[in-house]
Amino acid sequence: MRTFPSGVTHDIRYVSPFPIFVERALGSRKWDVDGNEYVDYVMGHGALFLGHAHPDITRAVVEQAGRGTHYGANHRLELEWGERVRELVPSAEEVRFTSSGTEATLMAVRLARAYTGRDKLLKFDHHFHGWQDYVAGVRAPESDSPRSPGIPDGTLANTISIPQNDLSLVEERLRDGEVAAVILEPTGASWGTLPLREEFLAGLRELTSRHNTVLIFDEVVTGFRVSPGGVQARYGITPDLTTLAKILAGGLPGGAVAGKADILSMLEFRDDAGWNAGMRVAHPGTFNANPLSAAAGSTMLQAVATGEHHRHADELNERLIAELNAVLERSGVSGSVYGLASYFHILIGKEAPRPSGGIEWPDDAGEPPRMSGAVTAALKRGMLNHCVDLMGGAGGFTSGVHTKEDIDLTVEAFEATVGEMRSEGVV
Ligand SMILES: Cc1ncc(COP(=O)(O)O)c(C=O)c1O
Repeated sequence: MRTFPSGVTHDIRYVSPFPIFVERALGSRKWDVDGNEYVDYVMGHGALFLGHAHPDITRAVVEQAGRGTHYGANHRLELEWGERVRELVPSAEEVRFTSSGTEATLMAVRLARAYTGRDKLLKFDHHFHGWQDYVAGVRAPESDSPRSPGIPDGTLANTISIPQNDLSLVEERLRDGEVAAVILEPTGASWGTLPLREEFLAGLRELTSRHNTVLIFDEVVTGFRVSPGGVQARYGITPDLTTLAKILAGGLPGGAVAGKADILSMLEFRDDAGWNAGMRVAHPGTFNANPLSAAAGSTMLQAVATGEHHRHADELNERLIAELNAVLERSGVSGSVYGLASYFHILIGKEAPRPSGGIEWPDDAGEPPRMSGAVTAALKRGMLNHCVDLMGGAGGFTSGVHTKEDIDLTVEAFEATVGEMRSEGVV
Protein backbone atom coordinates (compact mmCIF):
# COMPACT_ATOMS: atom_id res chain seq x y z
CA MET A 1 0.00 0.00 0.00
CA ARG A 2 1.32 3.45 -0.90
CA THR A 3 0.20 6.19 1.46
CA PHE A 4 3.09 8.67 1.60
CA PRO A 5 5.25 10.14 -1.20
CA SER A 6 8.50 8.14 -1.05
CA GLY A 7 7.11 6.43 2.05
CA VAL A 8 8.10 9.21 4.47
CA THR A 9 6.52 12.17 6.27
CA HIS A 10 9.65 14.39 6.57
CA ASP A 11 12.37 14.79 3.93
CA ILE A 12 15.20 13.94 6.29
CA ARG A 13 13.66 10.55 7.09
CA TYR A 14 14.08 9.42 3.49
CA VAL A 15 16.66 6.62 3.41
CA SER A 16 17.54 4.45 0.43
CA PRO A 17 16.66 1.57 -0.02
CA PHE A 18 14.13 2.01 2.81
CA PRO A 19 13.85 3.90 6.13
CA ILE A 20 13.57 2.25 9.54
CA PHE A 21 10.13 1.86 11.12
CA VAL A 22 10.21 2.53 14.85
CA GLU A 23 7.90 1.04 17.44
CA ARG A 24 9.07 2.51 20.75
CA ALA A 25 11.81 4.60 22.31
CA LEU A 26 13.26 5.22 25.75
CA GLY A 27 16.15 7.40 26.90
CA SER A 28 18.89 7.36 24.25
CA ARG A 29 17.59 4.22 22.49
CA LYS A 30 14.84 3.26 20.06
CA TRP A 31 13.60 -0.07 18.72
CA ASP A 32 12.30 -0.86 15.24
CA VAL A 33 9.52 -3.29 14.31
CA ASP A 34 12.08 -6.04 13.69
CA GLY A 35 13.33 -5.69 17.26
CA ASN A 36 16.62 -3.95 16.38
CA GLU A 37 17.83 -1.55 19.08
CA TYR A 38 19.47 1.72 18.00
CA VAL A 39 21.54 4.33 19.80
CA ASP A 40 19.65 7.43 18.73
CA TYR A 41 21.33 10.70 17.78
CA VAL A 42 18.32 12.07 15.87
CA MET A 43 16.72 12.78 19.24
CA GLY A 44 13.42 14.00 17.84
CA HIS A 45 15.25 16.15 15.26
CA GLY A 46 17.00 17.84 18.17
CA ALA A 47 13.92 18.33 20.35
CA LEU A 48 14.64 15.62 22.92
CA PHE A 49 17.35 17.13 25.08
CA LEU A 50 16.26 14.80 27.91
CA GLY A 51 15.89 11.74 25.67
CA HIS A 52 12.82 9.72 24.77
CA ALA A 53 9.91 9.39 27.21
CA HIS A 54 11.64 11.22 30.06
CA PRO A 55 9.58 10.42 33.20
CA ASP A 56 9.15 14.07 34.29
CA ILE A 57 7.90 15.14 30.88
CA THR A 58 5.71 12.07 30.44
CA ARG A 59 4.14 12.69 33.86
CA ALA A 60 3.47 16.36 33.11
CA VAL A 61 1.86 15.55 29.75
CA VAL A 62 -0.28 12.68 31.09
CA GLU A 63 -1.49 14.76 34.04
CA GLN A 64 -2.38 17.63 31.73
CA ALA A 65 -4.12 15.35 29.21
CA GLY A 66 -6.52 14.32 31.98
CA ARG A 67 -7.33 17.97 32.67
CA GLY A 68 -7.98 18.86 29.02
CA THR A 69 -5.89 19.34 25.90
CA HIS A 70 -7.30 22.61 24.57
CA TYR A 71 -9.12 25.29 26.55
CA GLY A 72 -9.52 27.83 23.79
CA ALA A 73 -8.56 30.27 26.54
CA ASN A 74 -5.61 31.54 28.56
CA HIS A 75 -4.16 29.10 31.08
CA ARG A 76 -1.60 28.86 33.87
CA LEU A 77 0.85 26.60 32.02
CA GLU A 78 1.26 28.92 29.03
CA LEU A 79 2.16 31.72 31.42
CA GLU A 80 4.66 29.53 33.28
CA TRP A 81 6.16 28.39 29.94
CA GLY A 82 6.45 31.95 28.61
CA GLU A 83 8.04 33.17 31.84
CA ARG A 84 10.65 30.44 31.69
CA VAL A 85 11.53 31.56 28.14
CA ARG A 86 11.90 35.13 29.40
CA GLU A 87 14.12 34.03 32.26
CA LEU A 88 16.48 32.04 30.04
CA VAL A 89 16.66 33.88 26.70
CA PRO A 90 18.29 37.33 26.96
CA SER A 91 16.40 38.92 24.04
CA ALA A 92 12.99 37.69 25.25
CA GLU A 93 11.26 40.77 26.61
CA GLU A 94 7.98 39.33 25.30
CA VAL A 95 7.00 35.97 23.79
CA ARG A 96 4.43 34.68 21.28
CA PHE A 97 3.91 30.94 20.91
CA THR A 98 3.38 29.23 17.54
CA SER A 99 2.94 25.57 16.59
CA SER A 100 6.34 24.98 14.93
CA GLY A 101 9.70 26.51 14.08
CA THR A 102 8.52 27.22 10.55
CA GLU A 103 5.62 29.23 11.93
CA ALA A 104 8.01 31.05 14.24
CA THR A 105 10.26 32.22 11.40
CA LEU A 106 7.17 33.16 9.35
CA MET A 107 5.92 35.32 12.21
CA ALA A 108 9.34 36.84 12.92
CA VAL A 109 9.72 37.94 9.31
CA ARG A 110 6.22 39.37 9.24
CA LEU A 111 6.77 41.28 12.48
CA ALA A 112 10.04 42.71 11.16
CA ARG A 113 8.38 43.84 7.93
CA ALA A 114 5.45 45.40 9.74
CA TYR A 115 7.72 47.13 12.26
CA THR A 116 10.16 48.59 9.72
CA GLY A 117 7.76 49.15 6.83
CA ARG A 118 10.30 47.46 4.55
CA ASP A 119 9.90 44.32 2.40
CA LYS A 120 13.31 42.78 1.83
CA LEU A 121 14.72 39.91 3.85
CA LEU A 122 18.43 39.13 3.96
CA LYS A 123 19.43 35.54 4.67
CA PHE A 124 22.56 33.44 4.20
CA ASP A 125 23.21 30.60 1.77
CA HIS A 126 22.43 27.13 3.19
CA HIS A 127 20.92 28.56 6.40
CA PHE A 128 17.71 26.67 7.10
CA HIS A 129 14.67 28.39 8.58
CA GLY A 130 11.88 25.92 7.87
CA TRP A 131 9.85 25.37 4.74
CA GLN A 132 7.79 28.59 4.48
CA ASP A 133 7.99 30.62 1.24
CA TYR A 134 10.03 33.59 2.50
CA VAL A 135 13.01 31.50 3.55
CA ALA A 136 12.81 28.32 1.48
CA GLY A 137 14.09 29.74 -1.77
CA VAL A 138 15.85 32.52 -3.58
CA ARG A 139 15.98 33.40 -7.24
CA ALA A 140 18.19 31.01 -9.18
CA PRO A 141 21.07 33.22 -10.31
CA GLU A 142 21.49 34.77 -6.87
CA SER A 143 22.73 31.88 -4.78
CA ASP A 144 23.62 28.20 -4.86
CA SER A 145 21.29 27.47 -1.92
CA PRO A 146 18.75 24.70 -2.54
CA ARG A 147 15.39 25.98 -3.68
CA SER A 148 11.90 24.64 -4.13
CA PRO A 149 9.46 25.08 -7.01
CA GLY A 150 6.03 26.40 -6.09
CA ILE A 151 7.18 29.69 -4.60
CA PRO A 152 5.93 32.72 -6.58
CA ASP A 153 8.62 34.82 -8.21
CA GLY A 154 7.25 37.92 -6.49
CA THR A 155 7.95 36.30 -3.12
CA LEU A 156 11.45 35.22 -4.10
CA ALA A 157 12.16 38.75 -5.30
CA ASN A 158 12.08 39.97 -1.72
CA THR A 159 14.51 37.41 -0.32
CA ILE A 160 18.22 38.03 -0.77
CA SER A 161 20.69 35.27 0.07
CA ILE A 162 24.42 35.82 0.36
CA PRO A 163 27.37 33.74 1.62
CA GLN A 164 27.87 33.81 5.41
CA ASN A 165 30.91 35.33 7.12
CA ASP A 166 31.27 38.31 4.75
CA LEU A 167 30.41 41.50 6.65
CA SER A 168 31.26 43.83 3.77
CA LEU A 169 28.68 42.03 1.60
CA VAL A 170 26.12 42.44 4.39
CA GLU A 171 26.86 46.14 4.62
CA GLU A 172 26.51 46.52 0.86
CA ARG A 173 23.02 44.96 1.04
CA LEU A 174 21.87 47.01 4.05
CA ARG A 175 23.11 50.37 2.83
CA ASP A 176 20.05 51.27 0.72
CA GLY A 177 17.73 51.00 3.78
CA GLU A 178 15.35 48.50 2.15
CA VAL A 179 16.09 45.42 4.25
CA ALA A 180 13.55 44.73 7.01
CA ALA A 181 15.47 41.91 8.67
CA VAL A 182 18.57 39.78 8.64
CA ILE A 183 17.88 36.19 9.68
CA LEU A 184 20.50 33.54 10.40
CA GLU A 185 21.34 30.35 12.23
CA PRO A 186 23.71 31.87 14.77
CA THR A 187 26.26 29.05 14.81
CA GLY A 188 26.34 28.79 11.01
CA ALA A 189 24.44 27.08 8.19
CA SER A 190 22.61 23.81 9.00
CA TRP A 191 23.24 23.94 12.75
CA GLY A 192 26.88 24.76 12.38
CA THR A 193 27.76 22.41 9.51
CA LEU A 194 29.38 25.51 8.02
CA PRO A 195 30.44 27.34 11.19
CA LEU A 196 30.45 31.12 11.53
CA ARG A 197 33.62 33.11 12.14
CA GLU A 198 33.78 34.38 15.68
CA GLU A 199 33.53 38.06 14.81
CA PHE A 200 30.56 37.64 12.44
CA LEU A 201 27.76 37.83 15.02
CA ALA A 202 29.13 40.97 16.67
CA GLY A 203 29.62 42.56 13.24
CA LEU A 204 26.04 41.73 12.24
CA ARG A 205 24.72 43.19 15.48
CA GLU A 206 26.54 46.43 14.82
CA LEU A 207 25.56 46.68 11.13
CA THR A 208 21.87 45.88 11.67
CA SER A 209 21.63 48.44 14.49
CA ARG A 210 23.29 51.06 12.32
CA HIS A 211 20.84 50.44 9.44
CA ASN A 212 17.72 50.03 11.63
CA THR A 213 17.29 46.48 10.38
CA VAL A 214 15.81 43.82 12.66
CA LEU A 215 18.32 41.10 13.58
CA ILE A 216 16.68 37.67 13.94
CA PHE A 217 18.57 34.78 15.51
CA ASP A 218 16.93 31.54 14.43
CA GLU A 219 17.63 29.50 17.56
CA VAL A 220 15.23 26.67 16.71
CA VAL A 221 18.12 24.19 17.04
CA THR A 222 20.58 26.12 19.21
CA GLY A 223 18.06 27.56 21.68
CA PHE A 224 18.38 25.94 25.14
CA ARG A 225 21.08 23.68 23.64
CA VAL A 226 24.35 25.55 23.19
CA SER A 227 23.65 27.03 26.62
CA PRO A 228 20.45 27.29 28.69
CA GLY A 229 19.92 30.70 27.06
CA GLY A 230 21.09 29.67 23.58
CA VAL A 231 23.75 31.26 21.39
CA GLN A 232 22.88 34.76 22.55
CA ALA A 233 23.59 33.89 26.18
CA ARG A 234 26.75 31.95 25.33
CA TYR A 235 28.31 34.73 23.26
CA GLY A 236 26.65 37.75 24.85
CA ILE A 237 25.14 39.11 21.63
CA THR A 238 21.46 39.97 21.82
CA PRO A 239 19.31 39.94 18.67
CA ASP A 240 16.08 41.90 18.27
CA LEU A 241 14.00 38.78 17.68
CA THR A 242 14.63 35.10 18.37
CA THR A 243 12.82 32.13 16.88
CA LEU A 244 12.54 29.01 19.02
CA ALA A 245 11.10 25.47 18.75
CA LYS A 246 12.37 21.88 19.35
CA ILE A 247 13.72 21.82 22.96
CA LEU A 248 11.35 24.70 23.72
CA ALA A 249 8.33 22.38 23.57
CA GLY A 250 9.86 19.41 25.37
CA GLY A 251 9.31 16.93 22.52
CA LEU A 252 5.80 18.04 21.61
CA PRO A 253 4.90 20.44 18.77
CA GLY A 254 5.57 24.10 19.48
CA GLY A 255 7.52 27.19 18.57
CA ALA A 256 7.85 30.80 19.63
CA VAL A 257 8.97 34.25 18.61
CA ALA A 258 10.59 36.13 21.45
CA GLY A 259 12.18 39.54 21.43
CA LYS A 260 11.90 43.27 21.92
CA ALA A 261 8.59 44.36 23.40
CA ASP A 262 8.55 47.23 20.94
CA ILE A 263 8.49 44.80 17.99
CA LEU A 264 6.11 42.28 19.57
CA SER A 265 3.76 45.18 20.33
CA MET A 266 2.83 44.98 16.63
CA LEU A 267 0.61 42.06 17.80
CA GLU A 268 -1.19 44.16 20.44
CA PHE A 269 -4.80 45.18 20.33
CA ARG A 270 -5.36 48.89 20.97
CA ASP A 271 -8.31 51.14 21.63
CA ASP A 272 -8.04 52.26 18.04
CA ALA A 273 -10.17 50.57 15.40
CA GLY A 274 -7.85 51.81 12.60
CA TRP A 275 -4.82 50.19 14.20
CA ASN A 276 -6.61 46.92 14.95
CA ALA A 277 -8.07 46.55 11.48
CA GLY A 278 -5.18 47.64 9.32
CA MET A 279 -1.94 48.15 11.22
CA ARG A 280 -1.57 45.39 13.76
CA VAL A 281 -0.12 42.00 12.83
CA ALA A 282 -2.83 39.35 13.17
CA HIS A 283 -1.92 35.99 14.62
CA PRO A 284 -4.43 33.21 15.14
CA GLY A 285 -3.31 29.52 15.28
CA THR A 286 -5.49 26.80 16.78
CA PHE A 287 -2.72 25.07 18.70
CA ASN A 288 -0.68 28.09 19.84
CA ALA A 289 0.48 27.42 23.43
CA ASN A 290 -1.75 24.36 23.74
CA PRO A 291 -1.77 22.90 27.27
CA LEU A 292 0.04 19.66 26.34
CA SER A 293 2.98 21.43 24.67
CA ALA A 294 3.03 23.94 27.51
CA ALA A 295 3.22 21.12 30.07
CA ALA A 296 6.08 19.38 28.22
CA GLY A 297 7.88 22.62 27.36
CA SER A 298 7.69 24.15 30.79
CA THR A 299 8.97 20.93 32.40
CA MET A 300 11.83 20.80 29.89
CA LEU A 301 12.85 24.44 30.42
CA GLN A 302 12.80 23.99 34.18
CA ALA A 303 15.15 21.01 33.79
CA VAL A 304 17.59 22.74 31.41
CA ALA A 305 17.84 25.96 33.41
CA THR A 306 20.56 24.68 35.76
CA GLY A 307 23.00 23.77 32.98
CA GLU A 308 23.60 20.34 34.55
CA HIS A 309 22.24 18.40 31.56
CA HIS A 310 24.33 20.60 29.27
CA ARG A 311 27.50 19.68 31.13
CA HIS A 312 26.70 15.98 30.70
CA ALA A 313 25.64 16.18 27.03
CA ASP A 314 28.57 18.44 26.10
CA GLU A 315 31.11 16.23 27.84
CA LEU A 316 29.86 13.12 26.03
CA ASN A 317 29.84 14.99 22.73
CA GLU A 318 33.44 16.03 23.26
CA ARG A 319 34.38 12.44 23.95
CA LEU A 320 32.42 11.19 20.92
CA ILE A 321 34.03 13.72 18.59
CA ALA A 322 37.54 12.93 19.83
CA GLU A 323 37.02 9.18 19.45
CA LEU A 324 35.41 9.40 15.99
CA ASN A 325 38.34 11.53 14.82
CA ALA A 326 40.69 8.89 16.26
CA VAL A 327 38.87 6.26 14.15
CA LEU A 328 39.47 8.34 11.01
CA GLU A 329 43.11 8.73 12.00
CA ARG A 330 43.55 4.98 12.56
CA SER A 331 41.70 4.06 9.37
CA GLY A 332 43.68 6.48 7.23
CA VAL A 333 40.40 7.92 5.89
CA SER A 334 40.29 11.66 5.24
CA GLY A 335 37.70 13.78 7.00
CA SER A 336 36.81 15.47 10.25
CA VAL A 337 34.25 15.26 13.04
CA TYR A 338 33.48 18.55 14.74
CA GLY A 339 30.66 20.33 16.53
CA LEU A 340 29.64 22.61 19.32
CA ALA A 341 28.10 21.95 22.75
CA SER A 342 25.92 18.85 22.17
CA TYR A 343 25.78 18.62 18.37
CA PHE A 344 28.28 17.00 16.03
CA HIS A 345 28.90 16.83 12.30
CA ILE A 346 30.73 14.08 10.41
CA LEU A 347 32.62 14.79 7.21
CA ILE A 348 34.40 11.89 5.54
CA GLY A 349 36.07 11.19 2.24
CA LYS A 350 37.33 14.78 1.86
CA GLU A 351 40.54 16.39 3.05
CA ALA A 352 39.65 18.43 6.13
CA PRO A 353 41.48 19.52 9.27
CA ARG A 354 40.39 17.99 12.58
CA PRO A 355 39.70 20.04 15.69
CA SER A 356 42.58 19.93 18.11
CA GLY A 357 42.06 20.49 21.84
CA GLY A 358 38.31 21.08 21.44
CA ILE A 359 35.38 20.14 19.24
CA GLU A 360 34.87 23.23 17.10
CA TRP A 361 35.92 23.50 13.48
CA PRO A 362 39.41 25.07 13.59
CA ASP A 363 39.01 28.83 13.35
CA ASP A 364 41.58 29.42 10.63
CA ALA A 365 40.63 26.41 8.44
CA GLY A 366 38.08 28.17 6.22
CA GLU A 367 34.70 26.59 5.50
CA PRO A 368 34.54 22.79 5.73
CA PRO A 369 33.95 21.03 2.41
CA ARG A 370 30.54 19.32 2.05
CA MET A 371 30.07 15.55 1.66
CA SER A 372 28.43 14.23 -1.49
CA GLY A 373 24.90 12.84 -1.20
CA ALA A 374 26.20 9.34 -2.01
CA VAL A 375 28.72 9.37 0.87
CA THR A 376 26.13 10.75 3.31
CA ALA A 377 23.63 8.05 2.29
CA ALA A 378 26.24 5.30 2.64
CA LEU A 379 27.24 6.56 6.09
CA LYS A 380 23.61 6.70 7.26
CA ARG A 381 22.93 3.18 5.94
CA GLY A 382 26.15 1.75 7.33
CA MET A 383 25.57 3.20 10.81
CA LEU A 384 21.95 1.92 10.80
CA ASN A 385 23.25 -1.55 9.94
CA HIS A 386 25.42 -1.24 13.07
CA CYS A 387 22.46 0.03 15.12
CA VAL A 388 23.22 3.75 15.33
CA ASP A 389 20.77 6.31 13.92
CA LEU A 390 22.41 9.54 12.78
CA MET A 391 20.52 12.73 11.97
CA GLY A 392 20.40 12.95 8.18
CA GLY A 393 23.40 10.65 7.98
CA ALA A 394 26.03 13.16 8.89
CA GLY A 395 25.75 14.11 12.54
CA GLY A 396 23.48 14.26 15.50
CA PHE A 397 22.70 15.37 19.01
CA THR A 398 23.81 14.07 22.37
CA SER A 399 21.45 14.58 25.29
CA GLY A 400 21.26 14.65 29.04
CA VAL A 401 20.59 10.88 29.02
CA HIS A 402 23.21 9.50 26.61
CA THR A 403 25.80 7.31 28.34
CA LYS A 404 29.46 6.36 27.94
CA GLU A 405 28.26 2.95 26.77
CA ASP A 406 26.32 4.67 23.95
CA ILE A 407 29.49 6.45 22.91
CA ASP A 408 31.52 3.21 22.95
CA LEU A 409 28.93 1.42 20.80
CA THR A 410 28.87 4.35 18.38
CA VAL A 411 32.63 4.39 18.02
CA GLU A 412 32.64 0.64 17.26
CA ALA A 413 29.83 1.12 14.72
CA PHE A 414 31.71 3.98 13.07
CA GLU A 415 34.94 2.00 12.84
CA ALA A 416 33.09 -0.89 11.17
CA THR A 417 31.14 1.41 8.83
CA VAL A 418 34.19 3.39 7.72
CA GLY A 419 35.97 0.08 7.03
CA GLU A 420 33.04 -1.13 4.91
CA MET A 421 32.77 2.16 3.02
CA ARG A 422 36.46 1.94 2.32
CA SER A 423 36.36 -1.60 1.03
CA GLU A 424 33.34 -0.72 -1.14
CA GLY A 425 35.28 2.21 -2.58
CA VAL A 426 32.81 4.84 -1.26
CA VAL A 427 35.59 6.75 0.52
C1 LIG B 1 17.23 26.50 12.28
C2 LIG B 1 15.85 26.00 12.00
N1 LIG B 1 14.86 26.88 11.85
C3 LIG B 1 13.59 26.48 11.63
C4 LIG B 1 13.28 25.14 11.54
C5 LIG B 1 11.86 24.72 11.28
O1 LIG B 1 11.30 24.18 12.44
P1 LIG B 1 10.07 23.15 12.34
O2 LIG B 1 10.61 21.89 11.77
O3 LIG B 1 9.60 23.03 13.77
O4 LIG B 1 9.05 23.78 11.46
C6 LIG B 1 14.27 24.18 11.70
C7 LIG B 1 13.96 22.75 11.63
O5 LIG B 1 14.81 21.89 11.70
C8 LIG B 1 15.60 24.62 11.91
O6 LIG B 1 16.61 23.75 12.03
